[in-house]
Amino acid sequence: MKNKQEAEKRAHKLRKLINEYRYNYHVHDRSTMSEAAADSLKHELSQIEEKYPELVVADSPTQRVAGKPLEGFSKVQHQQRMLSLNDVFNQEELTKWFERMHKLAPDWDGEVFADLKLDGLACALVYEDGLLVQAITRGDGFVGEDVTQNVRTMHSVPLKLQGRGVLASYLKGRIEIRGEIVIYDKDFEKLNKDREKRGLEKYANPRNTAAGTIRQLDSRLVAVRPLQFHAYAVLHPDIKYKHQEYELATNIGFKVNKEAKLFYTPATLAKFIESWETKRDSLPFGTDGVVITVNEKKVFEKLGVVGKAPRGACAYKYPAEQTTTKVKDIIISVGRTGAAVPVAIMEPVLVAGSTVQRATLHNQDEIERKDVRIGDTVIIQKAGDIIPEVLKSLPELRDGTEKKFDMAKELAEHPIHFERKDGEAVWRATKLDDPVIFKRQLEHFVSRGALDIDGMGTKVVELLVDEKLVKSLPDIYQLSVADVEPLEGFAEKSAQQLIASIQDKKQPTFQRFLFGLGIRHVGQQTAADIAKRFKTFDAFLSSTYEDLEAIEGVGVVVAHSITEWLEAAQTAQLLESFKKLSVWPRDFAQVKGPLAGQKVVITGSLPGFGREEGFDLVRRAGGEVQTSVGKDTTMLVVGDKPGKSKRDKAAKLGLKETSASEFIGLVNE
Ligand code: IVH
Repeated sequence: MKNKQEAEKRAHKLRKLINEYRYNYHVHDRSTMSEAAADSLKHELSQIEEKYPELVVADSPTQRVAGKPLEGFSKVQHQQRMLSLNDVFNQEELTKWFERMHKLAPDWDGEVFADLKLDGLACALVYEDGLLVQAITRGDGFVGEDVTQNVRTMHSVPLKLQGRGVLASYLKGRIEIRGEIVIYDKDFEKLNKDREKRGLEKYANPRNTAAGTIRQLDSRLVAVRPLQFHAYAVLHPDIKYKHQEYELATNIGFKVNKEAKLFYTPATLAKFIESWETKRDSLPFGTDGVVITVNEKKVFEKLGVVGKAPRGACAYKYPAEQTTTKVKDIIISVGRTGAAVPVAIMEPVLVAGSTVQRATLHNQDEIERKDVRIGDTVIIQKAGDIIPEVLKSLPELRDGTEKKFDMAKELAEHPIHFERKDGEAVWRATKLDDPVIFKRQLEHFVSRGALDIDGMGTKVVELLVDEKLVKSLPDIYQLSVADVEPLEGFAEKSAQQLIASIQDKKQPTFQRFLFGLGIRHVGQQTAADIAKRFKTFDAFLSSTYEDLEAIEGVGVVVAHSITEWLEAAQTAQLLESFKKLSVWPRDFAQVKGPLAGQKVVITGSLPGFGREEGFDLVRRAGGEVQTSVGKDTTMLVVGDKPGKSKRDKAAKLGLKETSASEFIGLVNE
């Protein structure tokens, strides 16, 4: 082979050519050469890099597969929160949205940008000086998971951004591109055909498969999956219009939906929405609607955010898809609160992109209202993310073999004893100590929103309870590797991992622990409110009904449910067992984080964050939010257009100012 200098030149040229091929092929569906020819060039490049490993660069096409499986994903804070969208379901609601925008932003010219809504998972790509440095999943919008290694294997994601002339200036420093990761329908079908051939269970739908793939710890498995990235947002301070984000994204190497465009009147937009509703099956990817955004960023920004969604954008959702299937059986499913719910087991059918074979029938009243019998042909529907439901039965198609379902009779024969209180539709178990119910409680205790114990899904929970290794929640902390290793599906390493992840969660946060206990009506928000009010779990344990009811967001029903739980004999026993094993929630104020112990005032706006979002950043980093500067204030964050009085007061008190970027850096730690 050539000497090193020549090799370097050659490698550089090869990379450029291969990258052009990739860009044309994966972004524009254009072929500049055959796949075989491109492969041959790649082969030559990897030979050069093998001989001169010092010539390998991070953005080389050979670096798309990063190699070693990860132990887990690390969490990353989004620099700007990833929002969701409010839905509208018909033209009337869309008209109202337009009216509202005009009212809130009287100087808005009415221009909107519309794009098809992709049915996949959101991902944020961070580039520094043009190089891909991080890919983050949406997560809860504030914090996502670092999936860089996996995303690097995707050919529709440039490892290095291209851009000459004016564009080059956009690539300096940090730029973030957001978009949706999807699997095209044809690729999904191929994937499933393949699985069928190999005797494997088929995947339910493209979206779940894409989401599951991105969460694979072994990037080699990701590399063989046909994931696609479509950009829909570019975060850069110089961009003035939404449509420019799309132009820029295309010009620096991304694929965007070709269908996206600008509209100046609601009438032309309505036509666009209508036409794609009928044509959407012809698209290569699944879509469940159209995203409509106020085009001018300044106006969009001014409109602000309510809850999780910006005011200046909405999603027009296409109506639910319906189909028919047959009810094979109706079974009773028992949840963690002991509620018995009838579930229809149906012949599997594809509806709105996913295979459906179960749907809740809620209760006996609903079964009667919809007149559903075993053996009936029924209409089922599913709208986007919404859980499939049985709409009605088609009695015209009955042949006399159909059987009515009698909930009371079925429950009488059930091994668990149930009762229905006067005036309630739901049957509940009279005792909650049945293994079937306990399994659901345990599943909830270890779930993501609660203790978040990795590797303890439904199957593992089933095994642990069936094998009588776990009879009450605290028992999990007594499990040993020797207990778990012999279980089906476990080996030494996975057993060690499970025990380690359990032991890792012996001091959960107050709110997670409380939520995990599964007290009726205590959801995540209520748990957080309670933790904030009482600070220590012990203080909460000695709270009264009045204390609880006085908390904002806790009503009579919740306060009653908690008091009942606090007074129950089993509660004392349960807590005693946790304590003996040194499992106890941390105090609320002790939540660790880079701002632990800090009392923070923010003046002015933080770029990219709303007021509430800024506060949330402080809390999430373990700090306390203050609205005015006082003697005990420890940090003054100064954003855009800060207030004079706050700064003066801080200066008087000798408090040093923290800039917005310093602050973002701190909370990102
Ligand atoms: S614009 C404010 N455009 O839909 C966030 N989003 O329900 C809106 N999505 O999390 C971003 N296709 O992941 C936008 N063409 C599109 C989209 C799109 C799919 C997703 C996105 C977002 C979710 C909101």
